[in-house]
Amino acid sequence: MTKVTETVVPGASGAAADGGSGVDWAALEVAAVAAMKNAYAPYSKFAVGAAALTADGRIVSGCNVENASYGLTLCAECALVGNLHMTGGGLLRAFYCVDADGAVLMPCGRCRQLLYEFRAPDMELMTTHGIKTMDQVLPDAFGPENLEETP
Ligand code: THU
Repeated sequence: MTKVTETVVPGASGAAADGGSGVDWAALEVAAVAAMKNAYAPYSKFAVGAAALTADGRIVSGCNVENASYGLTLCAECALVGNLHMTGGGLLRAFYCVDADGAVLMPCGRCRQLLYEFRAPDMELMTTHGIKTMDQVLPDAFGPENLEETP
């Protein structure tokens, strides 16, 4: 029989830190703030950092990268998803996004769709109204399952 082992996340095992969910939200906040400090936002001057815990216990992060052709701006979530794939792929278990003040920032609509694609089944997001599920921030979403051929 296959032995099921629990993924150990450094710093995420304390009951006080994770509220029992296995997610160290404080560590994600620290990683998001660190990512935000790398933002390239000369046009909006609105620095953003995002961090996520992967289902296998890594922390991935990203910052926004703007462009003189404004519409080409990459949100922090774009870099985060790239980082996810550059470091082994997998799915996102928990997500945290901050502005330049370190305040929680809601992902924009496009980025909710980006995150949806790589969500773990139990993915949670820190929001301006507390911890929510992916389905709460993007209800009735369009996803890969909609592209599957019906028999
Ligand atoms: N931004 C993000 O990086 N993520 C979001 O979810 C919201 C918006 C960035 C894009 C742009 O560089 C700046 O914030 C202002 O819109």
